[in-house]
Amino acid sequence: MKILVTGGAGFIGGNFVYHLLRGHPEDVVVCADKLTYAGDQDTLAEAFRSPQFVFYRADIAKKRDMEIVFGRERPDAVVNFAAESHVDRSVRSPSVFLRTNVLGVQVLLGACLKYNVPRFHQISTDEVYGDLPLEGGGAFSENSPLRPSSPYAASKAAADLLALSYRRTYGLNVTVSRCSNNYGRFQFPEKLIPLAIARTLAGKPVPVYGTGKNVRDWIAAEDHCAAIDLILRKGKSGSVYNVGARAEKSNLELLEAVFAALGGGKIEFVKDRAGHDLRYAVDPSKIESELGWRAKITFAEGIRKTAAWYLSKRNWLENIENGTYKESALRRFPANVPVRLVPGQGGQGEVT
Ligand SMILES: NC(=O)c1ccc[n+]([C@@H]2O[C@H](COP(=O)([O-])OP(=O)(O)OC[C@H]3O[C@@H](n4cnc5c(N)ncnc54)[C@H](O)[C@@H]3O)[C@@H](O)[C@H]2O)c1
Repeated sequence: MKILVTGGAGFIGGNFVYHLLRGHPEDVVVCADKLTYAGDQDTLAEAFRSPQFVFYRADIAKKRDMEIVFGRERPDAVVNFAAESHVDRSVRSPSVFLRTNVLGVQVLLGACLKYNVPRFHQISTDEVYGDLPLEGGGAFSENSPLRPSSPYAASKAAADLLALSYRRTYGLNVTVSRCSNNYGRFQFPEKLIPLAIARTLAGKPVPVYGTGKNVRDWIAAEDHCAAIDLILRKGKSGSVYNVGARAEKSNLELLEAVFAALGGGKIEFVKDRAGHDLRYAVDPSKIESELGWRAKITFAEGIRKTAAWYLSKRNWLENIENGTYKESALRRFPANVPVRLVPGQGGQGEVT
């Protein structure tokens, strides 16, 4: 298969690119990413060494960009990770969330129809369901009502519904996965786990919203990627699949695990986020029983591995923190041109 991965220079998309390159040497992976502040060329450094991999700097919300990518590459399937993904940013400036997360998905779906791409998978989030009370248990199923709390979550819910409508209206083979909070390599330090690691390494306290009792359901990005791969190949058209590892932790418990992996650390309570969701929990029974997927990485093991990765990649973290990553060659490369970086030449692009 030739798979178009949009948003592949980001955290989970980058992990998915490597999942495909390692697990499916028969596939070709085309990555299209706008390289917003959240995209990093270094995340894909190893991928550029593979003849299976091609990169386009392209915007999913620009029809012209997508027509060039789809027209040249004629993918067999699209997996859409491209999104504005940070809740705090959506509270401050929602409009870019609607542009990328909703209109961008409409452009991708339109391109699928125009270029006869038979398969579209939308990466969504458990945040579309809103939150649960802190006490009382329970978890969201695929049939739970959509009650997003933030502009980010609302934009993702809109995209899910739009994508599913293309199945009913146009017969496109569409699936949606709604995953819980991910952790792992390549995540930017604006998100809690890498932020905690970066601040602790710098000898600074980690800011914690409110009381720190808010609960999130955590999953290793590698487990999420395995689930997406399975849904892409075996998922039922028109289906939504929840993906989670049944690892609910309060923010304080999470930080305790991170500090244990780092050998120490301290917190600082800060004013709560507007509309802050109390608790998330997803029930992954459907993907487990229908597709045989299971999360394999335990929370303790995953956090240890993640902390070890950041400790071994202090340069990567520093380049993100001081903004050096924004000077990468790929950002200066013209948009909409397929790029393969010549191995060993420090980021020089070669037009193929
Ligand atoms: N991080 C999580 O815990 C989590 C959990 C569940 C679902 N998700 C979903 O997974 C997907 C990926 O999340 P992430 O955490 O990897 O995000 P991220 O912010 O790390 O990466 C997003 C990527 O999309 C790219 N992008 C943004 N706007 C674009 C545009 N208009 N055109 C092309 N590329 C664009 C960015 O450059 C970046 O490379 C998102 O759709 C998000 O909603 C994330």
